[in-house]
Amino acid sequence: MLLKRPLGIAMQFARWIADLDWRFILLVLPPLSLLLFLSISSPANPFSNLAPLRSILLNRTLPRGAVPAAANLSAAPSAPAVAPRPWKDELDRSRIAVCLVGGARRFELTGPSIVERILKVYPNSDLFLHSPFDENAFKFLLLKSAPRIAGVRIFRPEPMAESAPELRVLTASNSPNGIQGLLQYFNLVEGCLTMIKSHQARHNFTYDWIVRTRVDGFWNAPLDPDNFIPGHYVIPPGSTYGGLNDRLGIGDLPTSTIALSRLSLIPQLDQAGFRQLNSETAFRAQLNTQNVTHLTKRLPFCIVSDRQYAFPPSRYGVPVATILSKGPLSGAKCRPCTPVCRGACVGRVMPVLDKGWSWTQWENGTLELCDAHGEWETGWEKIFDRVAGKALAKQRKGVWRLKVKDCVSEFEKMKRRTVSWEAPAADEMCKVGLGYAR
Ligand SMILES: *[C@@H]1O[C@H](CO)[C@@H](O)[C@H](O)[C@H]1NC(C)=O
Ligand SMILES: *[C@@H]1O[C@H](CO)[C@@H](O)[C@H](O)[C@H]1NC(C)=O
Ligand SMILES: *[C@@H]1O[C@H](CO)[C@@H](O)[C@H](O)[C@H]1NC(C)=O
Ligand SMILES: *[C@@H]1O[C@H](CO)[C@@H](O)[C@H](O)[C@H]1NC(C)=O
Ligand SMILES: *[C@@H]1O[C@H](CO)[C@@H](O)[C@H](O)[C@H]1NC(C)=O
Repeated sequence: MLLKRPLGIAMQFARWIADLDWRFILLVLPPLSLLLFLSISSPANPFSNLAPLRSILLNRTLPRGAVPAAANLSAAPSAPAVAPRPWKDELDRSRIAVCLVGGARRFELTGPSIVERILKVYPNSDLFLHSPFDENAFKFLLLKSAPRIAGVRIFRPEPMAESAPELRVLTASNSPNGIQGLLQYFNLVEGCLTMIKSHQARHNFTYDWIVRTRVDGFWNAPLDPDNFIPGHYVIPPGSTYGGLNDRLGIGDLPTSTIALSRLSLIPQLDQAGFRQLNSETAFRAQLNTQNVTHLTKRLPFCIVSDRQYAFPPSRYGVPVATILSKGPLSGAKCRPCTPVCRGACVGRVMPVLDKGWSWTQWENGTLELCDAHGEWETGWEKIFDRVAGKALAKQRKGVWRLKVKDCVSEFEKMKRRTVSWEAPAADEMCKVGLGYAR
């Protein structure tokens, strides 16, 4: 089954330029990558051994609506004789892994919102962070106030081997890096699943739920318990780029295991005849071929982006929301800006966008747009602080006032609270980040 590709190469290229922030990972660190490439010959694909995963996939025989045995959540829905407890109480008694992936670029804006509106809302949840090391990694110390930190892995990115199935299944989108960008991103996501599995194995339990999202998401409202639906994978609507929005996903362990197995399922997509997929179309193919049903639910976060986009957006352009928008923005791109387009203007601009591409829900005044063709406007900090509130604003400012010594001691504190820690020395992350060792 070949994916329909209504778009020309120019569109693919436009999207390459316009959308995929994670591809910066490679651009930001070319000297390092090159060095590692020269010193390490053909790094092994860490997921080439499919045996454990396959067993999980083959054993995925839960009926629709069932929950994993360990969850013990089915008691309420299936036993109406017992007064059903609110779902949130059930979730508070279950085991939740929150997986954050991506680079820390503007984490001083997004991190505290993730802590407040996801992690502290589910104080029983275990945080897993999987991120490439760069000069912004020191900002991850903002996670020190997370209720529970199970795993932190901040790694030095290196080029990944490209297998024949990967080269067939994935699109290079005219990129000078070929499919590296996609592979690096898939590795970030699946690496988080690997961390979760190893934590489960080491501590002899399994999670009931995995919440997977990105470090560059700004949350303006709490994650609602309604988004945890047994037997289904929940994703936001919009920003589908021909497939499914892959900026966040929530599911039980079986569905999440499939959703996060972005590298190891590629051979199966290859066998099924899929070709030239981007991240979103590969994601859809992955869920469909494994019989995972997804549900879309609007979610109150946007992806904070420094990218510049033409305004007004064309059919395949990208709308950029102001972070002041009421939302829910379901993972649309945003920045702190004075809106140039609201109300009736949004009603004129948004219907132009292709519904199967970068379109996002905009009705009823939930979305207000930025003219994002240039840099962030002067005074963006005030706009951010207005929407973020005092406590988050304080954290944003605090990061840049840190001295190396304090940065290191904060990191050490966070490390002591973390079950599994794999990262460059705090001293290095802090010095590189705060500009003492470039
Ligand atoms: C798969 O499930 C069967 C029956 O439930 C069990 O005997 C077997 O050990 C499972 N395999 C793996 C690899 O978990
Ligand atoms: C499931 O819940 C019931 C009632 O809350 C409890 O008696 C039982 O021990 C639980 N089972 C497991 C496996 O936790
Ligand atoms: C893991 O847990 C199960 C049931 O909770 C128990 O039967 C088993 O002995 C435990 N295994 C280890 C290695 O602790
Ligand atoms: C998915 O469902 C189809 C049709 O019911 C079935 O043939 C196929 O084996 C299933 N695939 C998996 C991975 O369960
Ligand atoms: C907008 O509001 C109207 C009237 O309340 C409602 O019927 C409609 O579903 C809303 N649209 C969206 C996308 O929420």
